[in-house]
Amino acid sequence: MFPQDRPRRLRTSPAVRRMVAETSVEPRSLVLPMFVAEGRSEPTPIESMPGVVQHTRDTARRAIAEAAELGLGGVMLFGLPERKDATGSGALDPGGILNVAIGDAVAEVGDALVVMSDLCLDEFTDHGHCGVLDSHGRVDNDATLDLYAKMGVAHAEAGVHMVGPSGMMDGQVGVIRRALDAAGHTDTAILAYAVKYSSALFGPFREAVASSLQGDRRTYQQDPANAREAIRETLLDIEEGADLVMVKPALSYLDVLAQVRAQVTVPVAAYNVSGEYAMVEAAAANGWIDRERAIDEALLSIRRAGADIILTYWAAEVARRSR
Ligand code: PBG
Repeated sequence: MFPQDRPRRLRTSPAVRRMVAETSVEPRSLVLPMFVAEGRSEPTPIESMPGVVQHTRDTARRAIAEAAELGLGGVMLFGLPERKDATGSGALDPGGILNVAIGDAVAEVGDALVVMSDLCLDEFTDHGHCGVLDSHGRVDNDATLDLYAKMGVAHAEAGVHMVGPSGMMDGQVGVIRRALDAAGHTDTAILAYAVKYSSALFGPFREAVASSLQGDRRTYQQDPANAREAIRETLLDIEEGADLVMVKPALSYLDVLAQVRAQVTVPVAAYNVSGEYAMVEAAAANGWIDRERAIDEALLSIRRAGADIILTYWAAEVARRSR
C-alpha cells in the first residue's frame, strides 16, 4: 500500500486537529498594551491603529477591569503627558500620568492580573529620545540610567507589579534592579525588553504616543541584520537581574525569538508591535485578507516560535472570542 505514511489522518476533523494541536493561544498568555493620556475627557482614536485609543484615566480603568475579567495575563501601560521637557521630568513625578495610571490600575484590579509599565523616557521627552541628550545631542547612556532607576522606583511606589525597561541603554536592568531593591521593592519584577530592534514597525506607535522624535534610534536599538547580538543582549539582561526577557518586534524576528527561547530558562515574551497590527488591519479593511484568521495565525506563530507571553493590541478581542 502506498503511501504508507498518511499525516493527513490527523487532520481529518476539527476534533482530531484540536487534540493534536501543539500550540495554543490562551488569554493568560496575552498582555494588552494601553495608552493613557493626561488631561483628556474623551478617548482619542489612533488613526494608524484602528480600534486602539488613547485612553482617559477613566476609560483606562474600565478597559483594565475588562482585561481582568477576560482572564488576560496583564496590561502594559504607556503614559502620554500633557507637557514634555528635555529630561522627561513627568516620568518621575508621582502625579505624572504613567504613575497615576499605574495607581488606578492596581486600585481597580489588585493582583487579578499583572500590571506592567513601559519604563522609558521617550513619551516624556520633548526630543522624543529614550534618554537624555549630552551637549552634542547624543543620547547619554549613563546619565539616562540614573533617571531610569528613579523611574523604576516611582512605578513601584505607584504599585506596579512588573516594570518593562525598553530604552536599550547599557546597564539599565542592573541599575533598576539595584534601585528597586534598595527602596525595599524586592518583589517588583523586571520584564526586560532585552532584544529590541530599530524597526520601521514601530511607526504607528509614534502616533499613538504623540512622539516628537526626529531621526531614529539606531545608536541604541539593534540592527535588524544581527541575531547573535540578540543572545548577547539577552544574557546580559538576565545577569543583571531580568526576571523575564522580551523580543521585539515579533513577526519579522521569529528566528531570533526561537534562538532566545533555546538559550534561556526564564519566561520569554514577544511584542506584536503597532506596525504588525496596522498591516493586518489595513489589509483586512481593504478586504484583502481574512482578519480573524490572520490575527490567529500571527499569534500562533509567535507562540510556536517560543514565546510564553505575547504583548498584542488584539489581546482583549482574542480572549473575548475564545470564550
Ligand atoms: C519605547 C517603546 C516603543 C514601543 C514600545 N515601547 C517605541 C520605540 O522604541 O520606538 C513600540 C511599541 C509598538 O510599536 O507597538 N517607549
